[in-house]
Amino acid sequence: MKIEGKDYRTIWYEENVVKIIDQTKLPHQFIIKELKTVKDAISAIKIMKVRGAPLIGGTAAYGLALAVQENNDPEFIKKSAKELIQSRPTAINLKWAVDRMIKKLAGINGEQIASIALNEAKEICDQDEKFCENIGINGLKIIEEIYNKKKDTVNILTHCNAGWLATINWGTATSPIYHAHKKGIPVHVWVDETRPRNQGANLTSYELNEEKIPNTIIADNTGGILMQRGQVDMCIVGTDRTLSNGDVCNKIGTYLKALAAHDNDVPFYVALPSSTIDWDIKEAKDIPIEERNSEELSHVEGVDENNQLKKVLIYPKKSKAINLAFDVTPAKYVTGLITERGISKASSDGLKELFKK
Ligand code: MRU
Repeated sequence: MKIEGKDYRTIWYEENVVKIIDQTKLPHQFIIKELKTVKDAISAIKIMKVRGAPLIGGTAAYGLALAVQENNDPEFIKKSAKELIQSRPTAINLKWAVDRMIKKLAGINGEQIASIALNEAKEICDQDEKFCENIGINGLKIIEEIYNKKKDTVNILTHCNAGWLATINWGTATSPIYHAHKKGIPVHVWVDETRPRNQGANLTSYELNEEKIPNTIIADNTGGILMQRGQVDMCIVGTDRTLSNGDVCNKIGTYLKALAAHDNDVPFYVALPSSTIDWDIKEAKDIPIEERNSEELSHVEGVDENNQLKKVLIYPKKSKAINLAFDVTPAKYVTGLITERGISKASSDGLKELFKK
């Protein structure tokens, strides 16, 4: 998608290095960073230079390819794979991507292993782009249906950033929105700010602006009253891990939006590629929920009057804070799952039907 009119993907291999857009600096600075070692990839994922479930999966795949280039000793590759998987605990895409790389490299020795690893990482990213495009084509039908009934702008609420910056391209939650916009359907997006890291305000609003899609940032607690006032036609969010029973783990605050949507009969959709489905864990309580440094809550970063990035403390110095990064929305509050294969009910039967082969 576009930044200042130029097309980008979020990660690519060029001149023997992996390149990423440093998302910790957006929207104030657009900086491209180079990842040269597996350590660089792990660090970029941990400090969230790259973030969003599909993109951290893609970065982990390239991270493993970098590890193989550095040292093709099986023990080093195994250790790197483990560290990549552990770099952030909640998004299943990390493990999915690393497992796929390991499977591809099994039994391959010698010089060819490095180029096979790089090709596989690129294929993982290309596939994610295709899946996200298909999510858009499938989700477009829902937006179109609402528009055909309403004959007026479709107001869509989203949480966090499940946009193209969270994937390789298109995004998951935003892909149906981009497709609707391209088709000429008038859409307007309510963008949850998404405290504490403000991915909604900093990233979703930024990328929608760049694609010229009307959007309005709202404080995280505003969605409820907008739904009561009939100003939200549908919600679409992303997910870091969706269980085979349809329970959806996503950015903290998603659950409260789903409750408000349920109370107000607003359809609540979750958009995801199949790489985000966890077919193993059966119960939501077993999903590892990332707890991040409470400094993300107590401090905010922005630019001052001289356009310099600054971080300031906003809490009383002695106060304690807890920073859980994700929550789980039970399947019963989810209207449907928009996937690359089509739209399914958020249930075991729905997912099984869609992914039986
Ligand atoms: O902590 P983040 O910014 O990585 O969280 C991202 C989200 O919660 C997204 O909704 C999710 O990863 C889906 S991205 C298509």
